[in-house]
Parts: sequence; structure tokens; C-alpha cells
Amino acid sequence: MNDLTGKTVLVTGGARGIGAETARRAVEAGANVVVTDVLEDEGKALAAGLGERARFMRHDVTSEEDWAAVAAFATAEFGGIDGLVNNAGISTGQPLETETVEHFRRVLDINLTGVFIGMKTAINAMKDNGGGSIVNISSAAGLMGLALTSSYGASKWGVRGLTKLAAVEQGTAKIRVNSVHPGMIYTPMTAQLGIQQGDGGYPNTPMGRVGEADEIAKAAVFLLSDDSSYVTGAELAVDGGWTTGPTVKYVMGQ
Ligand SMILES: NC(=O)c1ccc[n+]([C@@H]2O[C@H](COP(=O)([O-])OP(=O)(O)OC[C@H]3O[C@@H](n4cnc5c(N)ncnc54)[C@H](O)[C@@H]3O)[C@@H](O)[C@H]2O)c1
Repeated sequence: MNDLTGKTVLVTGGARGIGAETARRAVEAGANVVVTDVLEDEGKALAAGLGERARFMRHDVTSEEDWAAVAAFATAEFGGIDGLVNNAGISTGQPLETETVEHFRRVLDINLTGVFIGMKTAINAMKDNGGGSIVNISSAAGLMGLALTSSYGASKWGVRGLTKLAAVEQGTAKIRVNSVHPGMIYTPMTAQLGIQQGDGGYPNTPMGRVGEADEIAKAAVFLLSDDSSYVTGAELAVDGGWTTGPTVKYVMGQ
């Protein structure tokens, strides 16, 4: 299951958190992995620890030039790109009425424009390789109206939409495009928000606990692998049931 032997996978924002676990899982599954991030020290250390089939390159996902350089690097090192995990992102919380236009544009630039340039770059590279799989990391905030996420939520709904239309456009080109929607996952991003790891850490979810980065990584590796060969344009919630609706734990009338 989930064999990636012989495939080359690019993971953006891979220096830590969900991206780092995805890179680790992809190497375990047999892939060559190019980890990219703006955090150079963490990214280099991670790639060194993952061994011979991992590389790191500094990469700002908002830069078209950086994307071109990463694609050239992956082709020079490993012969092309078969999988892309568009994972890099920033999270912020603001009520809409106090959000600034400047900040809104910055979040959209990283979380949505970065994904757009990545898809464009990867599709062109994948066409040369006979197909591929793109996994876009959206969010539970891209499946519902989550309060205090005006810029973040807009970016993640945008990622979900871009995923669908790209899946339609690329279907016959054998390039599959899917989105993953993590719920509350314990990473440096959420630790900064005061989220606690494990059971009881997030009672809003039916499962009651905060998820682990590796639980998202496993979903990403499934979508990268040929085991998901007929899955495209799908949105996979990995959220402990958070987006099923309000967590109602009583029966009406009782
Ligand atoms: N942790 C959660 O609960 C959660 C929930 C839903 C969605 N997500 C999404 O999962 C993805 C990974 O999140 P995480 O929790 O691991 O966060 P994280 O902050 O731990 O990791 C994100 C990585 O993206 C990198 N990054 C930021 N801006 C970048 C840029 N311009 N270019 C390249 N890299 C950049 C950061 O340096 C960092 O290494 C994000 O897209 C996030 O929105 C996370």
C-alpha cells in the first residue's frame, strides 16, 4: 500500500510540522523527496536526517522565479516531478472588520497564489513525465465558515476551488489533483496559538482530541500513490469529524 518507489515528490513548507511529516512518510514509502521552505536551517537538518533520497532547497512559494529554480533542481537531481504537496502556509486569526487589506493580500499571496504557481509549475513538469499527483493542503476552514479566519479562510476556500477546476482540466493528462482538509493538528503553527496536544485538546471535534501531523502525512501519501488512481477533485477531511457539523452529544427531546 501507498508505495512511492521511483517517484519524485516535492513538499513545500516542509521544514517542520505537517510538511516535515509528509516528507518523512514519502521517503519511507520509497520516494525521492525535495523539501522546500523559507526556513533554511530546519529544512537542511530535516533533509540530512532523511538520508540519500532527500534534498532541501530554499524556496519562497510566492516567487515564480523560485518555483522555476525548484523545478529545475528536482529535474537535475531526480529526473522530474511526479508528486507535489502544496503545504506551505501561514495561519492568522482576525475578525473581518479589523483585518487590514495589506495583511489579507499577504495571506492570499502565500496560501493561495503560492499554490497556484506551484500547480502551474508542476503541471508543466508532470506533462513531460506522463502524469502525476498534486495534493493541496487546504483546511477545515476551507470547508466551513470558521470565525476569525477572514484571510486564512478565504485562502483555503480558494485552494479547494482551484483543486476542483485543475482536476477537471488535467483529468485526461493523467494528473490528479486533490485537497486535504486538516482539522486542529498539533504543529508549531497551532502550538503558537496555545493548542495542547492529544486527548481533550480540542473538544469542538467529535473525536475530542487534537490530531497529529503524521495523520495528515498518511492521507497525503495515499493521494500521491497509485492506490488513489481513480481519485481526483476530491476533498479529504482529516479532522476528527470537525466538519461533519456542530458537535451535538445529546438526543433531541431528552
Ligand atoms: N496545524 C493545523 O491545525 C492545520 C489545520 C489546517 C490546515 N493546516 C495547513 O497545513 C499546512 C502546514 O501547516 P503546519 O501546521 O504544519 O504549519 P507550520 O507553521 O508548522 O509549517 C508551515 C511551514 O510553511 C512554511 N512557509 C511559510 N511561508 C512560506 C513561504 N512563503 N514559502 C515557503 N514556505 C513557507 C513555514 O516556514 C513552515 O515551515 C498549512 O498550509 C496550514 O494552513 C494546518
